Amino acid sequence: MKRIAVLTGGGDCPGLNAVLRALTLTLHEARGPELVGLCDAYFGLLDQPPRLMNLNPENVWEILDDGGTILGTANSGDPFSWNGQDRSSEVLQRFKDLGIEGLISIGGDGSTMIASGLMEAGLPVIAVPKTIDNDVAGTDVTFGFESALRCATDALDRLRTTGESHRRVMVLETMGRDAGWIALTAGIAGGADIIVIPEVPYDLEAIAEQIATVRGRGRSYALVVVAEGARPVDGEPLYRDPENERLGGVGWALARQIEERTGVESRATQLGHLQRGGSPSPVDRVLATSFGAAAARAVMNGDWNQMIAFKAGRITSVPISEVAGKIRMIPHTHPLFVTAKSLGICMGA
Ligand code: F6P
Repeated sequence: MKRIAVLTGGGDCPGLNAVLRALTLTLHEARGPELVGLCDAYFGLLDQPPRLMNLNPENVWEILDDGGTILGTANSGDPFSWNGQDRSSEVLQRFKDLGIEGLISIGGDGSTMIASGLMEAGLPVIAVPKTIDNDVAGTDVTFGFESALRCATDALDRLRTTGESHRRVMVLETMGRDAGWIALTAGIAGGADIIVIPEVPYDLEAIAEQIATVRGRGRSYALVVVAEGARPVDGEPLYRDPENERLGGVGWALARQIEERTGVESRATQLGHLQRGGSPSPVDRVLATSFGAAAARAVMNGDWNQMIAFKAGRITSVPISEVAGKIRMIPHTHPLFVTAKSLGICMGA
């Protein structure tokens, strides 16, 4: 191949630039194909003229620790459903016209689903999984997650002091969509008393009991972490923007319900996009760099139609066809779930 493209799709997360850098440097070292970035994912490709960015060692050398993505990203603009219209053949034609023979798609489950559709239509594709949510099927971890985890853990450490000083229940709402990885892991790291995740519909009775237990032990405050996708046993998740299915608001609802039920003053904090911003953690820089280098090696070896993954402590790959359209939630047998239960943390039910 002479020319390939790379895009970043879906929500940004720390580490995207580190992947772009590693991909560019590794292809350059291996004298691989020319690499062009698509600005704002498929928007840049379909614009007339197309908005492309040539990626070479000079323009990526210094982006290792930069958050966000120099290419820009979008969580709309699905070629198969572009305002209800299928523009996938236009996308494929545009790749042909530009002499682009393969695509590296750096994204979450939505981007991998799109990449899988283009792959089925004949475009060679390599997917690189990213997201703070850590919910991509086929990999044990995604870059971006550890940086978000640091942010959520830091927030819990800060909330603890106010909880302690005011004898309050402090509720932290994390992101994570339909999976509770950020909430569960930060909850353990930050010493939470109650962790509420989408995988376990919550029961107010159990939560109130745990608060009574904690106070019965002489501690006047309690820390609660709730994932944005959590829902009560008899209800649905809350949306801050129902039309666009954007989750949010369960933290405030839960704090109000806890206060009503227990009489203990309660406050909620929604961490929001703070979890997605800023510089990647060292672990994320290394993971993202390893993913980028692995994607470049896959290009050089002709191993297309794979998703780069981290499994059982190793960088590996899995066929895109096996993982597209699937998300990874927390099984109740997961070691972190078992650890939380062993410690007596209330898991919401
Ligand atoms: O998938 C990453 C994520 O941050 C989710 O945790 C969250 O639900 C969503 O994206 C927020 O999306 P937006 O930036 O469009 O509000």
